[in-house]
Amino acid sequence: MTSFRAVRLAQRPTGVPNSDTWAIESEELPALAPGEFSVRVEYISLDPAMRGWLDDRPSYLPPVEIGAIMRAGSVGTVTESLNPRFPVGAQVVGTFGATEIAISDGSGVNVVSSDLAPLSYFLGALGMTGMTAYFGFFELGKPRAGDVVVVSAAAGAVGSVVGQIAKLNGCTVIGIAGGKEKCDYVTNTLGFDYCIDYKQDTSMRKLLGGALKEVGAQGVDIYFDNVGGEILNANLAYLSFGARVVICGAISQYNATEITPGPSNYMNLLVKRGTMTGFLVFDYASQFSVAQRRMGKWISQGKITAPETIVEGSIEEFPATLNRLFAGENLGKLVLKVS
Ligand SMILES: NC(=O)c1ccc[n+]([C@@H]2O[C@H](COP(=O)([O-])OP(=O)(O)OC[C@H]3O[C@@H](n4cnc5c(N)ncnc54)[C@H](OP(=O)(O)O)[C@@H]3O)[C@@H](O)[C@H]2O)c1
Repeated sequence: MTSFRAVRLAQRPTGVPNSDTWAIESEELPALAPGEFSVRVEYISLDPAMRGWLDDRPSYLPPVEIGAIMRAGSVGTVTESLNPRFPVGAQVVGTFGATEIAISDGSGVNVVSSDLAPLSYFLGALGMTGMTAYFGFFELGKPRAGDVVVVSAAAGAVGSVVGQIAKLNGCTVIGIAGGKEKCDYVTNTLGFDYCIDYKQDTSMRKLLGGALKEVGAQGVDIYFDNVGGEILNANLAYLSFGARVVICGAISQYNATEITPGPSNYMNLLVKRGTMTGFLVFDYASQFSVAQRRMGKWISQGKITAPETIVEGSIEEFPATLNRLFAGENLGKLVLKVS
């Protein structure tokens, strides 16, 4: 019998998940049924959305059940197979969970190759977060050359790609990130025109007004929102005529223990005839291969950098690694390399 360890949900958290949230135990791997294969997981994706999946409330996916293995995207190698589409040795990406070994029937699984890109990229720039940036920006942002684009969580997995794609499309880009080090990275390495350190002791509205002046802009044509809260509200105050606000996520609210107020500046959408639209990356799944080819080309041509924070450790590191997202302790895509 093969044994493995997995992260199971022990208790629903209030606020930031803690040690009571999780149970990590050794388990025996069951025998494969016809059509199944087992995967040794090498990289696990850490995603802010995981926090929402822990709450017992209706959303776009059902909540993770108490006692179930935590839902997570991951990449690994097939170690045993009763499915000819996924032979032993194939490298695969799928929602295998926060586990060392998973059994799959192939649903939602794709074969990838470390000959094309580092395996972890299939969770980041060539995977879910890269696709989020691509479709959120092009399909909802509807960019035009010369647009002024503002993106929050600009040094993160989605934000870093949004800003770089926007630059490739002739836009002026302002990033918003926490701390000088991240802001230096966003401008010097990722090539954004300006970056606001939102952790300064100045109102977000004032900081954004100053940034727009610095880049010589009158207002915001596209605001790509990863964080919600005050940062969203400040952007709503500076919309240009016909602006597009893309609601990608609201990480500033994911661990809130009380109801958070809505954005008071939303009436500016009416004044400026703007739109504010939410989206889910999975709605564009049928077009992923086209976007992945484009993104892969940009990366290989050096036009896009795919920053990553790779935490190396055992599956026991999963809970602490997840919380790094909420503390801003990641640059680019956060993954756990399972050893
Ligand atoms: N709609 C979709 O289909 C979809 C798909 C994927 C992701 N998303 C959303 O996209 C957003 C970014 O996800 P990601 O995977 O790329 O994560 P990420 O940006 O790589 O990591 C999260 C970042 O959020 C920032 N942050 C944390 N707490 C914050 C707060 N209170 N206020 C402002 N910023 C805060 C931190 O950066 P700083 O150090 O700069 O604070 C942190 O590094 C999330 O909201 C996520 O839920 C949506």
